[in-house]
Amino acid sequence: MEKQYKRTTVTSALPYANGPVHIGHLAGVYVPADIYVRYLRLKGRPVLFIGGSDEHGVPVTIRARKEGITTQQVVDRYHELIKDSFSRFGISFDIYSRTTSPTHYKLASDFFRTLYDKGVFVDKVTEQFYDEQTDHFLSDRNIRGECPRCHAKDAYGDQCEACGATLSPEELINPYNAETGNPLVKRATKHWYLPLDKDQEWLEKWILQEHQEWRSNVYGQCKSWLDNGLKPRAVTRDLEWGIPVPIEEAKGKVLYVWFDAPIGYISNTKELCDAHPELGSWETWWKDPETRLVHFIGKDNIVFHCIVFPAMLKAHGGYILPDNVPANEFLNLEGNKISTSKNYAVWLNEYLDDMPNRQDELRYVLTANAPETKDNDFTWADYQARCNNELVAVYGNFVNRALQLTQKYYEGRVPECGALNDYDRETLDEFRDVKSRLETLIENFKFREAQKEAMNLARIGNKYIADCEPWKLIKTDPERVKTIINISLQLTANLAIAFEPFLPFSSQRLRQMIAMDTFSWEDLGSTTLLPSGKQLPKPELLFTKIEDDVVAAQIKKLEDTIKANEEAAYEPAPVKPDIPFDDFEKLDIRVGIVKACEKVKKSKKLLKFSIDDGTGKMRTILSGIAQWYEPEQLVGQRVLFIANLAPRQMMGEESCGMILSAVNWNGDLNLTTTMGEVKPGSIIS
Ligand code: MF3
Ligand code: ZN
Repeated sequence: MEKQYKRTTVTSALPYANGPVHIGHLAGVYVPADIYVRYLRLKGRPVLFIGGSDEHGVPVTIRARKEGITTQQVVDRYHELIKDSFSRFGISFDIYSRTTSPTHYKLASDFFRTLYDKGVFVDKVTEQFYDEQTDHFLSDRNIRGECPRCHAKDAYGDQCEACGATLSPEELINPYNAETGNPLVKRATKHWYLPLDKDQEWLEKWILQEHQEWRSNVYGQCKSWLDNGLKPRAVTRDLEWGIPVPIEEAKGKVLYVWFDAPIGYISNTKELCDAHPELGSWETWWKDPETRLVHFIGKDNIVFHCIVFPAMLKAHGGYILPDNVPANEFLNLEGNKISTSKNYAVWLNEYLDDMPNRQDELRYVLTANAPETKDNDFTWADYQARCNNELVAVYGNFVNRALQLTQKYYEGRVPECGALNDYDRETLDEFRDVKSRLETLIENFKFREAQKEAMNLARIGNKYIADCEPWKLIKTDPERVKTIINISLQLTANLAIAFEPFLPFSSQRLRQMIAMDTFSWEDLGSTTLLPSGKQLPKPELLFTKIEDDVVAAQIKKLEDTIKANEEAAYEPAPVKPDIPFDDFEKLDIRVGIVKACEKVKKSKKLLKFSIDDGTGKMRTILSGIAQWYEPEQLVGQRVLFIANLAPRQMMGEESCGMILSAVNWNGDLNLTTTMGEVKPGSIIS
């Protein structure tokens, strides 16, 4: 028998305030959390939806150095941007606060202090890499050095990109500070550890035995951590940016970001409840065993939410533990990994600007493609297809037909429902248990299936209208048409409820179109939602098509980013070994004028040039630049060519010499020429 809870505290991972949020975050965490919370609210269940920005940690400080601004400026900028775009997107947080808030500083400090006073931590002195010139200990990802395997000079503290070896910073030869280039030395430093090894036993029982209902990806990851044996984890760091460790001995050190951030859920709940006494004490939402705690996160956060944070809560005492942690896998984008540092993503703020009033389109596609059990791919082609073939052609189309026919036949008044025939009854039976099916799916975090179920309602409606053909019957059997339209309108009202957790914006538009002011989840399945005689306003289209050019522009944006990244990563080839001057003098490079140029048959690469080389005779040279130039545009141009290269046969033609081109970073060829009007045959020296 499942436990009945009085209320639910829903948290969603606090995004790092080091950049905007993107569709990967949305699909993995915020859209599913929002569906769940909206569903609970619709059912009238007490729930708090807690969000906020994670403003500490190395990613934020790296961003600050990259942008040349202070860390505080970075978190201020991105916190506001993220908060604003979540709100525009309809993520219905009860609070969205931040881990630099005074409430959080105090709560996180006190939390550490409590554990410290209880003697929970063990401290340990270890040798860490230190930059003596800047007086800094270095985090692993800021350490570089020579790879012990392939001897590349710039391997990272955790990996060598040249040979792919997995490394630890200790293995690097001549380690240096990745940012300053300064050499590093080892220096002793003391840190405080959460001794997770002591939590092994209860965690095994709690997760592996008592939470076998957790998603298999979550359960599996926990099992593998537990099977490997838990080890103590440092919860302090030698950094400037963070919450100071509240003990004298740890002066200059800060709390590890993964220690303070999850406490942020609690701080933000406190901030909310302190401002809204009607919600009760924050402690009810975190300490009462009749409160259900659910964490929505991405898969990279599993260990922190299923093992580390519960161990912290338990060590502190008095807190409830999460009842479920529905973590999602990752969403890729057009076949590539989404990356904040490489700027490769669909950013929420940009989407909202580029696609005004299309929040639900994105919500729909992200849920339809949610990475619930495996990594998934977002493509703009799929986005367009789902919007046009499902939202417009199924949901929108059905609603539009029902409402337009009501206008046409009854001036917008809901007609009476007459006697039902067998087909009506069959149709109504089909959707009667949609409520319980949706409930089971949503309560088991199967949002993808649940949304399909809601869409199925619209399919049933479409089929019903198409089969009944009221536009034919209106002449012969007008009484029958009243019933058909009444049933269609009742179905429409059901859709407005069923889709509310998934597509809140269109659901609201639809409710306006059917003048439904109050509604509740419990009404789902009812066939008397709209009383006959009710006057409906003039309908509008619920969804509109996504045109090809809109999608093409989005794809181009991503391709441009990939190109820009390749260009930024491009390094020119190393200079070849020195040669004596005599060797250079052997080369005869000259100026020629292109007199004729044509494509070489059966070759995609070659152009055939006839060149005035100053001798009075035409010289033929073949050059592999057909991909980049139209032959006509080259006639009359001056080119540089090697005049004394031994003739070669190419594609059945003799080529006498070689035309010089610059090879761009991406392999594109660019013809070289002279700046002035140099006579053909002039030498290059
Ligand atoms: N900022 C982390 C990330 O993006 C998530 C923090 S979740 C919290 O991976 F629990 F620590 F808040
Ligand atoms: Zn290497």
